[in-house]
Amino acid sequence: MSAKSIDGRSIAAELEKKVAAEAAELSAAGITPGLAVVLVGDDPASRVYVNSKKKACLRCGIYSEEVKLPATATQAEIMAVIDQLNQRNDIHGILVQLPMPAGIDEHQIINCVHPSKDVDGFHPVNLGRLISDEPMFIPCTPAGVMDLIKSTGVEIKGKECVVVGRSLIVGKPVSFLLLREHGTVTIAHSRTANLAEVCRRADILVVGVGRPNLVTGNMIKPGAVVIDVGTNRVNNSLVGDVNFEEAAAVASYITPVPGGVGPMTIVKLMENTVLAARLTKKQHS
Ligand code: GUN
Repeated sequence: MSAKSIDGRSIAAELEKKVAAEAAELSAAGITPGLAVVLVGDDPASRVYVNSKKKACLRCGIYSEEVKLPATATQAEIMAVIDQLNQRNDIHGILVQLPMPAGIDEHQIINCVHPSKDVDGFHPVNLGRLISDEPMFIPCTPAGVMDLIKSTGVEIKGKECVVVGRSLIVGKPVSFLLLREHGTVTIAHSRTANLAEVCRRADILVVGVGRPNLVTGNMIKPGAVVIDVGTNRVNNSLVGDVNFEEAAAVASYITPVPGGVGPMTIVKLMENTVLAARLTKKQHS
C-alpha cells in the first residue's frame, strides 16, 4: 500500500470537541440543542445508525429524542408526527431516518420537515440554498466528505473531480460542494458508459453507490484522492464500494471503510443541530 489512509475517526473526534463546546455554550445561554430522530419500521441498518446518532448526542450535550413508528405507519401518521416536532421549541433539528418503508412517499416526508429544522439538508429549500451559493444546512455525509478531502491538503480548485453516484443523500450534494470549491466535476452513475475510463480521469474520486468492489485498482489515477462513501454489509463485515487494497496501491490518499466517512456523517449531524439551535437563538435575541 502506498496511499495514506484518511483517519475519519480522529478527524471526527476533533470536530466533535468543537461541537460539544458550542453546545455547552448554547446550553449555558438557556438553549440546549435538541434533535429528534424519527425511525419508521425496523430496518436493522437504520437501527444501528440511529443508535450511533443518539450516542453522539449524549457525548456532545445535545438533547435527543427518538420517535419510533411501526412499519405499518401511514403517510399521514408520519407527517402528523413531524408536524408536532416542527412546532416544539425544545427540538431544533429533525432527522427522518431513510429509507422509509415501501409505499411511503419519501419526498413528501422530507418536504414536511420545516427547513429551519432540516438538519439533514434534504429539504428542497436547503438544497436550493446550496445550489444558489447561500447554504444553511449542508447534507451531513457530503459535508463530511469535503472535510476529509480538505484534511489531505490537496487543493480542489481546478482538479478533475469524479463523483460516482447521483443520490440525494450523497452524489448530488457532493458534486455541488466540489463545484463550489472550483473543482471540474463529472457525475457518473449506473448508466455511465466506460465508467473505468471516467474514473481514471479523477484527481479526486468520490464513490457513493452501494455496490461492493464497484471501483477496482485499474480505475484509479495514480496519486488520486479516493473517498469511499459505500457501506455494504458483506458476510457480516462492512465494506465500501472501492476495492481498498487495489486502490490503496495506486492512490495517494484513501478513506477506509469503516472508519472513514461514517464518523464524519454523525459529527456533521451534531454540527447542524447546534447550528439549528444557534439560529433560533439569533431569532430571539
Ligand atoms: N440513511 C442513510 N444515510 C442517511 C442520512 O444521512 N440521513 C437520513 N435521514 N437517513 C439516512
